[in-house]
Amino acid sequence: MAQLWGGRFTKETDKLVYNFNASISFDQKFFQQDVEGSMAHVKMLARQEILTEDEKNQILEGLEGILRDVGSGKLEITDAYEDIHSFVEANLIERIGDAGKKLHTGRSRNDQVALDMKLYTRQEVIEINGLLKGLLKVIIAIMEENTETYMPGFTHLQKAQPITLAHHMGAYFEMFKRDRQRLDDIYDRMNYCPLGSGALAGTTYPLDRDYTAQLLEFDGPTLNSMDSVADRDYVIELLSALSTIMMHLSRFSEEIIIWNSNEYHFVEIDDAYSTGSSIMPQKKNPDIAELVRGKTGRVYGALVSILTTMKGIPLAYNKDMQEDKELTFDAIDTVKGCVALFTGMLKTLKFNKDVMKVSAMKGFTNATDAADYLVNHGVPFRDAHGIIGRLVLYCIEQDKAIDELSLDELKAISPVFEQDIYEAVSLETCVNKRMTIGAPGPAAMKEVIRINREYLERE
Ligand code: ARG
Repeated sequence: MAQLWGGRFTKETDKLVYNFNASISFDQKFFQQDVEGSMAHVKMLARQEILTEDEKNQILEGLEGILRDVGSGKLEITDAYEDIHSFVEANLIERIGDAGKKLHTGRSRNDQVALDMKLYTRQEVIEINGLLKGLLKVIIAIMEENTETYMPGFTHLQKAQPITLAHHMGAYFEMFKRDRQRLDDIYDRMNYCPLGSGALAGTTYPLDRDYTAQLLEFDGPTLNSMDSVADRDYVIELLSALSTIMMHLSRFSEEIIIWNSNEYHFVEIDDAYSTGSSIMPQKKNPDIAELVRGKTGRVYGALVSILTTMKGIPLAYNKDMQEDKELTFDAIDTVKGCVALFTGMLKTLKFNKDVMKVSAMKGFTNATDAADYLVNHGVPFRDAHGIIGRLVLYCIEQDKAIDELSLDELKAISPVFEQDIYEAVSLETCVNKRMTIGAPGPAAMKEVIRINREYLERE
């Protein structure tokens, strides 16, 4: 009886194990990088006379054929192979025979996969950096147009002091600029080639690791073969940088969602970037901003996942590390999608400048400036703070803004007030007087825009 299904049971188990172990469903993402790495390896092997010129040429031709056929769809990457490395090697042998069997000389899948993952993520670092640059260009264009577009600045989501739209956008410019710098740092630190490290202890062949590093545009070979096959720091650093990008996008999205609400009405999201409700005909929802905010969670998840995977792994390579791929790929694709969509949404966002200005005027955002007025007329700041507090209370009772009170009303609260108070607490004055670098005053803002324009031209 046991025998009747025993064989079958073993087969079934094997299939499950095979599926559990296999990575081709996701590592085919770096098919191109895998071939590229093999080409460099083979060129080096021939240069070191480990392979003949003829063998090298056969292998290179075979690999080019595989690239071409996968590209055209003639050759399909299927789950008949355990991973992308096996797929390429098996196809090569099928095409060119014995010479193909020499491709893997002096190489292990451990240094191979370390290389492929590096080549793939390195390229993505460049692409994400480029997408962020596109976003910065949209932000700076908004800044240039709005150095005198007044709005309330908030702390605790309470109106605090008047600022300009250029100033508010400028805050995000700085965040995404730092994000790009982080990506540059990661690139520099990761850009050493693990190829030639073998399984963990190098190889006995006279490989020229400097040469493969140079062919693949690395700054040099990695310096410890155990570390080379066991290092995923660059993945962790990248996911950390991506998490920070998402955190910034999410904060920005949250603001746009608030500004787009019926109560604020500071902005209107373009029809192309909003969605309707299936039941409520009046609705135009900020779904894209909400989705960007929502997708932040999965990118953070990827970071925590790989950190956790790596924490208990003894040197050198262990299969746990195969888990570095799926979530990283997902995080990369998520961030690229989010940055691109967010850029489009921001570019088409309509700012209701009048509503913003009225909001700034109505919220006592000039109270600090009113206190400063008293200070400039000899009142100690702490007393001025108390006087303006009482003034604001009076305004609330009367449902008026500070500059809507008569001079008599103002003088009843403090005799120090004179006619020039109106000018001193106007929105324009409040903003214009903030002219230290980094502040919203239009002159300071224009200088910052100039510096950041230069940065965009340079980098
Ligand atoms: N699929 C593997 C990974 O992603 C490739 C390396 C396999 N190495 C090994 N010794 N089984 O990590």
